[in-house]
Amino acid sequence: MNILYHCTFSNQNDFLKLLKKKFKSHKILTLDDNIQFEKIEVALVWNLPDKILKKLKNLKIIFSLGAGVDHILNLSNYKKTPIIRIQDQNMRSRMLNHVLSQILNYQLKLNDYSKAQAKKIWLDERYTSLNKELTIGLLGLGYIGSFVANNLKVLGYNVIGYKNSVNKSNLSIPVYYKNSIKSFLKLSDIVVSILPATKQTKDFINKSFLKNMKKNCLLINIGRGSALSELDLLEHIKKNPNFFASLDVFKMEPLPKSHKFWKNQNIIITPHVAAITDVDSSINYIFNKFEQFKKKGKMKSDVIIKNGY
Ligand code: GLV
Repeated sequence: MNILYHCTFSNQNDFLKLLKKKFKSHKILTLDDNIQFEKIEVALVWNLPDKILKKLKNLKIIFSLGAGVDHILNLSNYKKTPIIRIQDQNMRSRMLNHVLSQILNYQLKLNDYSKAQAKKIWLDERYTSLNKELTIGLLGLGYIGSFVANNLKVLGYNVIGYKNSVNKSNLSIPVYYKNSIKSFLKLSDIVVSILPATKQTKDFINKSFLKNMKKNCLLINIGRGSALSELDLLEHIKKNPNFFASLDVFKMEPLPKSHKFWKNQNIIITPHVAAITDVDSSINYIFNKFEQFKKKGKMKSDVIIKNGY
């Protein structure tokens, strides 16, 4: 089978090497090859150019090389080709580690000591909250969110969740729906957004959302930058000096040098690294799905296209 691979990860070549090994009885092609586009039936992509998608007239299935699928759904030439995204245990373990690092950094006031160290100041001891004294509110309870929620609970945190859709969840945490966002925010000492980029989530974390959060609070965004109104966050921090944010995703990536976030003392920036795509395990995941697809000659999308995730 002819398979197109296109990806903008920094380790795209390692990925390609392993893909070729795993799919050895198939042809893995890149845009550098002399491609007959109409022969491509499967595409494995991260940031495929729209003009290339347009040429893939016989495409039967698209694999996203990450957990997110906005890079596909946002293409104007995307029609209805089924999409399979990566659901990988290693990815959600990394996500959990990232969230935990940001919670502990805030909870143990580690930034205060870093700042003091830079000035050679021996700070007095400070009170820090125990896990059981903190409530973590998770926005988005999908494959990654539910795993993070369960594991934070095991560590003794109070964990609550918020979901837009009222479908049943098999989580053992209190879940808030739709209009109960205010009650959810009132309880949360730390809010973690794992929201995907959709029409509904665009600027969901805005002025009124932030106003409903506690004054002393940490916002962690590891979902998509489009869910946060960046200007509203800057305004909010100006008025609330004990409000902090740890951001891994941004409206524009890489974050432009001129962006006000860089110099804001209350914001920690990480460059979209909370969960990289694990080369080995994700290729195995894709290969297994591909084998199922090959057997039947078709496959149902594991993304609800109209919801955008
Ligand atoms: C990363 O953002 C991903 O969607 O995997």
